[in-house]
This record gives sequence, C-alpha cells and structure tokens, in this order.
Amino acid sequence: MNSAPANLRTADAAAIARGGEIIRAGGLVAFPTETVYGLGADATNDRAVASIFAAKGRPQFNPLIVHVPDVVAAEEIVAFTPLARKLAQAFWPGALTLVLPRKAKKLSLLVSAGLDTVAVRVPSGAVAQKLLHAAGTPIAAPSANVSGRISPTLASHVAEEFGETVDLILDDGAATLGLESTVIGFDGENPVLLRLGAMARAEIEKIAGPLAMPGAKITSPGQLINHYAPLAALRLNANDVKPGEALLAFGAHVPEGARMTRNLSATGNVKEAAANLFAMLRELDSNGAQNIAVMPVPEHGLGEAINDRLRRAAAPRT
Ligand code: TXA
Ligand code: MG
Repeated sequence: MNSAPANLRTADAAAIARGGEIIRAGGLVAFPTETVYGLGADATNDRAVASIFAAKGRPQFNPLIVHVPDVVAAEEIVAFTPLARKLAQAFWPGALTLVLPRKAKKLSLLVSAGLDTVAVRVPSGAVAQKLLHAAGTPIAAPSANVSGRISPTLASHVAEEFGETVDLILDDGAATLGLESTVIGFDGENPVLLRLGAMARAEIEKIAGPLAMPGAKITSPGQLINHYAPLAALRLNANDVKPGEALLAFGAHVPEGARMTRNLSATGNVKEAAANLFAMLRELDSNGAQNIAVMPVPEHGLGEAINDRLRRAAAPRT
C-alpha cells in the first residue's frame, strides 16, 4: 500500500485558501461537492482547462460543468430563460446543472468543447462554496475520475486515480449525495433531461413540467454508454448469487453465498443507496470481485438515476 500522498489535505481554512491560489495560478485542485468530488481548474484559463482533459484522459468533445458561487455569477456566464431562472431559484445551490447559451467571452472555449452552450451549477457543498470564493473565478470541474471510470465520492478515490498529477486534493470525507448532478438542457423553452442525477426527476418536473428526453438534436456527450465502468462485470436484477459472484445488495432480504457483499441500503432507502453506490462498486473492485450480482433497485425517486448508472456500468465494454 502507498502512504497518503503529500497533495492530500484536510479541507480546513488554510488548505482551501491554498486551493484558491492554485486555481488562480492555473493549477488543478480536486474538491468535494455535495454530489461527487470534482477536478477543478480556472474556467477562464484555456491551459488550465486543457490540463483537466489531459489528467482525465477524457475525449476532447466532452464539455465540462462550470461551477459558480451564486446565480448572479451564473448570469454573467450564460443567458437565462424565464424557466431556467425559476429552476435556479428553486434548486440552487444544489445538485442541478443547467445547460444554457454561452454569454461570457472570458470563459475558455475549451470548457464547452466547441458547443455554443455552457453547463453551469451552483454547488451547495460548504467546501466547494468556500473554494469558489477563495478562487474568485468560475471553476470548471468534471467528476474527479479517470475518463470512463466511476465518479469519486471520497478524497482517497481521487488520490488512487490521479496520485500527484493533481496539485491539491481537498479532503472533506464522503460526498453526501454520492451521485452526480442532474443535467437539464433546453430546446427553446422546453426542458430536456440530459442526465439523470442526484436531483430527482419528479422534483424538477414539479416546476418545469414533463422533461423531454434528449433527441437527435440535443445530446450530452456524458451519455456515452460506458461512462460509468467498474472493472468487474455486473449482472443486474439478480435475486440470487452464482458461484464466485460478489453481491451488491439492496434491502433487508439478501441471498446467501456471495464471495463478498455490500448492501446499498439494508432499509431499502434509495437516497442512502445513491450515496453508497460508487463507493461500494469501488470497494468490490478493489477487493478483487470479477463478477458482481446486483439486486433490483426500485425505479422511484433517485432509484431512476441509480438504475441508469448501473445499466451503463453493466453495458458491454466498447
Ligand atoms: O455533480 C456533478 O455534476 C459533478 C460535480 C463535480 O459538479 N460534475 C460532473 O461533471 O459530473 P462531468 O464532467 O463528469 O459531467 C458533466 C456532464 C456530462 O454528461 C456532459 O456531457 C454534460 O454534463 N455537459 C456539460 N456541458 C454540456 C453542454 N454544453 N451541453 C450538453 N451537455 C453538457
Ligand atoms: Mg463524470
């Protein structure tokens, strides 16, 4: 085992202030948000944004979310429609990302990877908020995982994948929600669900009305089918365990005979399951599970987003 890397620091005031300096100087800072850990850089600095793509090994056509401290800062970057403003009022700060026409000239063009829109989000996580204030610039941040791997919910996940290639990793324990933000785009005034995520669809639909699914016209590159891949092969909707399989369980009734078991939520709570999903997949991976049976997770609330991630994780590798 490696010892803790020198760039991994508890997210106290001094470390966050240092993070702000590093961002302003064009460096990379991994930081916790309420959804997952992000890999942040100054969104106005092309070279800094390019180093995010380089570190992640991410296809250049995959655009990044720009994080800002509040709606006022978001209005400087993108053009809001009345509905977008209503959604921002209802859900920011929080786990909702809005894709809107780009406005700011100072924003790196690389951030939107050639599109004329920008994805913006006001995170509610305290460390993310403090870092945004310390940096004094919008922070572009994808999830802090190597491209194609599952999102990190702990600072140690980031350290494992990036080692010292990130200037600073701010550690604030487990991300509370554990699933990426829900991404909403617009086709004119019509809201389009680009990515299921930590803000449940039903909550958003209370304000936006029914969300369309992305068509041929509006697509989100993050919807690449293998976006969330653990190393092990997954067998979904399993109610039994085959010889040699590990088990990702859900609920109180857990079949016996698994090599190892993690339970997303023994009480059958989908919110708890969302918070545990990525960390438990990683644990099973790092403990050498090659085949994982996954018990059914109900489709209600965040279950819809959990099942979306599980289907991607189970898809044949391309
Ligand atoms: O919770 C989250 O959203 C985390 C934390 C760090 O904020 N970030 C995150 O970023 O998940 P990332 O880069 O892993 O996912 C961004 C998603 C992708 O599905 C991407 O395709 C989509 O947002 N996206 C970004 N900009 C877009 C744009 N201009 N048009 C359409 N989709 C966009
Ligand atoms: Mg990601």
